[in-house]
Amino acid sequence: MPEQSFPPGFLWGAATSSFQIEGAVYEGGRGVSIWDTFCREPGKVKGEDTGDIACDHVHRVAEDVALMAELGLQAYRFSIAWPRIFPHGTGDAPLEAGLAFYDRLVDLLLEAGIQPWATLYHWDLPQTLQDRGGWPERATCDAFVAYADAVSRRLGDRVTHWITHNEPWCVAILGYQTGLHAPGWTDTPAALAAAHHVLLSHGMAVPVIRANSPGAKVGITVNLVPAVPASDSEADAIATQRFDGHFNRWFLDPLYGRGYPEDMVAHYSDQGFLPGSCPFVQAGDFEKMSVKTDFLGINYYSRGILRSEAVAEEDNAPRTWPEPEPERCTDIGWEVWPDGLYDLLCRLKADYPEQPLYITENGAAYHTAPGPDGAIHDAKRLAYFEGHVDACGRAIRDGVDLQGYFAWSLFDNFEWQEGYSQRFGLVWVDYETQARVFKDSAHWYRQKIRRNGAPEDPA
Ligand code: FCB
Repeated sequence: MPEQSFPPGFLWGAATSSFQIEGAVYEGGRGVSIWDTFCREPGKVKGEDTGDIACDHVHRVAEDVALMAELGLQAYRFSIAWPRIFPHGTGDAPLEAGLAFYDRLVDLLLEAGIQPWATLYHWDLPQTLQDRGGWPERATCDAFVAYADAVSRRLGDRVTHWITHNEPWCVAILGYQTGLHAPGWTDTPAALAAAHHVLLSHGMAVPVIRANSPGAKVGITVNLVPAVPASDSEADAIATQRFDGHFNRWFLDPLYGRGYPEDMVAHYSDQGFLPGSCPFVQAGDFEKMSVKTDFLGINYYSRGILRSEAVAEEDNAPRTWPEPEPERCTDIGWEVWPDGLYDLLCRLKADYPEQPLYITENGAAYHTAPGPDGAIHDAKRLAYFEGHVDACGRAIRDGVDLQGYFAWSLFDNFEWQEGYSQRFGLVWVDYETQARVFKDSAHWYRQKIRRNGAPEDPA
């Protein structure tokens, strides 16, 4: 393959999620989600922002799909709001208004020649299910499967790709261990149980989705963070191994049939988080979790540089990787490190069974307001995308089976605990007027898609 070009058929898309863009939270009988609740707890979300209006996407869906077509997207990854389908998480009949909304979205996408990629769970758990214990409860798996069944029955003839879950690490760890995300728990044993049930519900849902949507591909999306030690000390090597175990292997290993990594089971047990090994594991769980899928979705934003906290700084070896300077970080504080994406893709190829991979999210937060000419010159975001798309190309040339790339995000939107303060969009959203404006990065992406990743001809 010539330098810098992508294989024919490489898929170019952009991603969003329901709570982050939809608004219309009181319409169509939609129930309350854990994020509606979390936003109303003082001090949890910057600016006390809520998802009540967000990008008003529910009311602007036709206009928004027209925008995607103008951008030249070949695929659009969106998520379905569970409380729009079952306001209390379970029930006999799904809500028609909720199904009808996604039905229309899917039809609009297909009419525009854009593949619909539906994620079933991107964090907006119905509050009623959380009141019954949420993801640490095994019963939430059954509720998820029933929900997946209802949605895939309705959309299964048209959705081309299903993603069961978005980022199980965030659901479990940010939701139930650090408390930074809804529902805001700080309970490590509960977080490990939550992680188990998220993966288990994935495994249980895949055969149901396949039965309802035989022509579609089914997978899961994980957020992965490659890690490097800050120095060549033994202590930093151990810290790096732990971080990798906690972030990456705890999720990848069971998905690929290896169960939980032993070093991490021992580590969590030593810390008293896993009394009697893994109490939440039942016979047959690992078989279900490792159900064969058609692809793995990967969300990549940055890497980790690990410095041990087990030894005093003065006793540790001098750093070979310094802390990243602020200029090398995006507005949200994440280091820009495209090589991390290349390394991650090569590591997956080396360490796990090969299967088609997709980057289901990658992007950068920069606040670049419209200039006097009305244009939005977001050069840093553009450079971030350039670097990461280039890393994808290098990985493909080195034999990685990467088949597509989704930019995060199509729009500026509600960035969880950061509220509307962080802007990841290719498209600027004016939250007062709901006007949408292509940023320079959107114009760049449009060209990139047109040329299937090849660089512009020299003028
Ligand atoms: C990911 C989430 C996505 C968005 C980006 C910035 O972890 O999946 O919703 O918030 O980060």
